[in-house]
Amino acid sequence: MSVIHIQGLKSLHGGIPIQGSKNAVLPLMAAALLHSGTIVLRNVPEIQDVFCMLGILKSLGCHCIFKEHDLIIDTRNLDQASICHEQGKKMRSSVMLLGPLLGRLHKVETCFPGGCSIGKRPIDLHLSALEKMGARIEVKGEHVTAYSHKLHGADIRLAFPSVGATENILMAAVTAEGVTRIYGAAREPEIGTLCQFLSAMGARIEGTGSSFLTVYGEASLKDTTFVVPGDRIVAGTYLGAVMAVGGDICLSGVPVDHMEGTLQMAREAGCELCLKQNQIQARMKQRPLPFKLITGPYPEFSTDLQSVMLAVASVAQGESCIQENVFEGRFATAQELNKLGAHIIIEEGTALVTGGFPLRGSTVQAWDLRGGAALVVAGLAADGESRIHGYSYISRGYEDICRDLKALGASLSLEED
Ligand code: EPZ
Repeated sequence: MSVIHIQGLKSLHGGIPIQGSKNAVLPLMAAALLHSGTIVLRNVPEIQDVFCMLGILKSLGCHCIFKEHDLIIDTRNLDQASICHEQGKKMRSSVMLLGPLLGRLHKVETCFPGGCSIGKRPIDLHLSALEKMGARIEVKGEHVTAYSHKLHGADIRLAFPSVGATENILMAAVTAEGVTRIYGAAREPEIGTLCQFLSAMGARIEGTGSSFLTVYGEASLKDTTFVVPGDRIVAGTYLGAVMAVGGDICLSGVPVDHMEGTLQMAREAGCELCLKQNQIQARMKQRPLPFKLITGPYPEFSTDLQSVMLAVASVAQGESCIQENVFEGRFATAQELNKLGAHIIIEEGTALVTGGFPLRGSTVQAWDLRGGAALVVAGLAADGESRIHGYSYISRGYEDICRDLKALGASLSLEED
């Protein structure tokens, strides 16, 4: 098992490009199944979740070539509608294949998805929406089977702006008969990216970027080439790193327009920012100022950066407070951060953090993707050596966190345990 070894207290300097977005590319790979032809995606990150999704697409009959961040998906021989349990359980995004497979093959067999243990993560919103569009769904234990003679448009009101459910409905609606209206749709940037991709393929979608989306069905789709935007969460992670340990860094290939909440929070914590087209220059000359954070559906502060900012709060000059409103299990990382010398108390979905600097090097365990990244950020701001176990979680979403942080002057390495 790989372990990240960190020698802390080295400030960060220099510049790096930011990888393509995990949460944007996974739905695009699923949406490719809607069209019998060739889809080319560029700036695709080499991360475990992409390799897992590739494995599923190949098992369904697609021919895929992934080289130097370009991904070619030929779906003409798609003839399987059954996703094996082992693959479906590896990540949450397997659930996104429900809509495209129902639209293309009119059936799909899969299991309840796996993914980070950050909460219960049911799929009731996905299933009830697809049933409204004409799918017949059978759930037996962990197994989900869905059939549809022909999906039809529907008016769907989401009780919660679920990102995945919005994506599934959008993909199912593109080939359905008639018009689908989604009320209370998620507004995360990845939804806008999916709408742009589906429109480039030939779909007709109105309301992109808003919580009310209209999809005109039975679109004739065509071969498409599309560039995946930079990963706003990876960029936010490295911004958190320089806030925690100090320095002056430049991040390029960043979707700055999709990071308002993160950038606002960084400014309030004392980080000097200079923003250009797709580039962030971030300078941190002192310990972070304490801050209050409340996570929520976009455009509120991203739950995916909550753990990283918990690490930043751990070295702030005073008392910070972070409230988590999306995933009830995200605070599991707090106990590992406390092993690194943080002072975090969790009370009813809120973390109360007393900052102190530096933290102290220790051996800790990552239990989820973003929690693992937060432990790396904390290790950078710890005196002495830290060892972060659970690299397999981190590599699901970060192409090479050691490469990136070393390029910014950090002292860390990946070693076999
Ligand atoms: C996507 O997950 C992202 N994953 C998550 O990023 C991100 O944290 C999340 O959106 C919120 O922004 C991908 O895009 C691959 P949701 P998703 O459906 O779609 C509840 C990361 O670290 N819910 O918006 O699973 C659910 O339990 C990952 O990159 C239902 O109750 O998120 C949660 O409390 C982690 N029923 C809330 O909604 C449903 O049917 C948000 O979930 C679906 C969701």
